[in-house]
Amino acid sequence: MGVSRKGPGPSARRRSRRAGPGVSAPRLYDDLSSWWPILSDPADYAPEAMRHRKSLVAACARRPRTLLELGSGGGNNAVHMKRHFRSSTLVDISPGMLAVSRKLNPECEHVQGDMRTVRLGRTFDAVFVHDAIGYMTTEKDLAAAIETVHVHTAPGGAALFVPDYVRETFEPAAQHGGHDGNNRALRYLMWTWDPDRRDTTYRLDFAYLLRHPDGTVTAEHDRHTLGVFPRATWKRLLARAGFKVKVLLDPEPDLEPSARVVFVGKKPQ
Ligand SMILES: C[S@@+](CC[C@H](N)C(=O)[O-])C[C@H]1O[C@@H](n2cnc3c(N)ncnc32)[C@H](O)[C@@H]1O
Repeated sequence: MGVSRKGPGPSARRRSRRAGPGVSAPRLYDDLSSWWPILSDPADYAPEAMRHRKSLVAACARRPRTLLELGSGGGNNAVHMKRHFRSSTLVDISPGMLAVSRKLNPECEHVQGDMRTVRLGRTFDAVFVHDAIGYMTTEKDLAAAIETVHVHTAPGGAALFVPDYVRETFEPAAQHGGHDGNNRALRYLMWTWDPDRRDTTYRLDFAYLLRHPDGTVTAEHDRHTLGVFPRATWKRLLARAGFKVKVLLDPEPDLEPSARVVFVGKKPQ
């Protein structure tokens, strides 16, 4: 996952909600989900959310009024985007993350679902998939998520995908951050590394220090397995789904590499 620009965005074996064949859900979205807003402050997302909204609006044939976000997490993008749409629907696989987002975005519709398979039975003018797309670790999963997006995009509408990396831009990194909450605090180290550059996955290992309301501090480890694909794979899968594809570069000063590759899919009218 990407962390927010100043926090992260993706294990422990303790509790293992299954996220897909052979993959355990990261603890950050499971037993630790209530810590998300302290790890990744919604306020830090404002500039990036504005850039992505503008890219989406520019790609739509007419002004978009309805927004769907897949893998919406704690709603840190939605909180900045929602006021520009008549309605926003937020889908995430994690009940804990949906609960965090409901507090921040009570006026948005929240739906629990897997971006590979969810079908809402309606279309939206704009569809947004931020760093959650990183949890697609195989080409088959990425194609399934792209198909979900295509099915939910209205003719003349557009979709925006913002993976943390494509294969060509991946770089190992170590970052740290965290915030003070009202009665709790968190600091983390996020270590991005790739044990095998020939496959389509890489790892994030998080070390969290959690300061609890009674002042005790505990340390936790959380491993996230994420997907990374060449630009050409993205373009091929998007075109195969029926999108007209455009590639943008988003300046992302708080993340390495210094620019992120963003994929726009326009659905013909
Ligand atoms: C880094 S967080 C997203 C944070 C989000 N960008 C925000 O604005 O708060 C990644 C999210 O992807 C979700 N996720 C992972 N796999 C998913 C899937 N198959 N379908 C839907 N959501 C998924 C996780 O539950 C988690 O909430």
